[in-house]
Amino acid sequence: MQRTPLIAANWKMHGSTALVQQMSAALSELPPTNLTIVVCPPATLLPRFSQVSSFALGGQTLSHEVSGAYTGELSAELLQEAGAHYVIVGHSERRTLNNEDDALVAAKLERAVAAGLIPILCIGETLAQRQQEKTEQVLAQQLDAVYASQPELLAKSVIAYEPVWAIGTGESATPEQAQATHAFIRQHLAQYDTQSAVRAKILYGGSVNAGNCAALFQQADIDGALVGGASLKPAEFAQICLAVTQGAKE
Ligand code: PGA
Repeated sequence: MQRTPLIAANWKMHGSTALVQQMSAALSELPPTNLTIVVCPPATLLPRFSQVSSFALGGQTLSHEVSGAYTGELSAELLQEAGAHYVIVGHSERRTLNNEDDALVAAKLERAVAAGLIPILCIGETLAQRQQEKTEQVLAQQLDAVYASQPELLAKSVIAYEPVWAIGTGESATPEQAQATHAFIRQHLAQYDTQSAVRAKILYGGSVNAGNCAALFQQADIDGALVGGASLKPAEFAQICLAVTQGAKE
């Protein structure tokens, strides 16, 4: 297999120090594998996690600025100091609720890479866009905004395909739908850099749970998952991590 799997947990504005302990305990019982686990808790919990666990940590967003009078913002360097090696960029909730447009997402991703963080770039279409058969057009535009002018950033990125209609709704894309879209994404990435496109980890996100993950992980172009709701349940999240290591592809 050309790509090792990655499972990321997006805790959003949930969690507590108690959950940090429970999650660390649950994940420490997993057998050693080549799986990369990245937990993205609220930034205030990052130092706690660093103290008690050995898996990778990530921020949920970052500022595109290095430092300055930006009340409430967190720079890449501050996240790193708190223990992060990864950062989610362009999550659909940030795009919608915080008006992050493609240009800002591109600036954030560039900043993350410049600071040495690995960005997890989220892209995805809304239900209306899918129904209007605009999915590929939307994804291409979101990817082009970041990589068309700086294709070298692709080798340093993880991509997460998260259909907006599947996030937090309990309605995951089917494995076939997800695979078809992941294949399109990989094909599109090849326009920037063929080698990096083959190597790029493309995660699926949107209502992933212990029940539906195995079928998703069987798909050739799905290299792991970005998990929201189910990542707040330590036992279920550990099961998802186990499933991706057991779903080794031919
Ligand atoms: P969900 O969230 O797994 O709860 O759908 C995924 C995400 O928002 O990254």
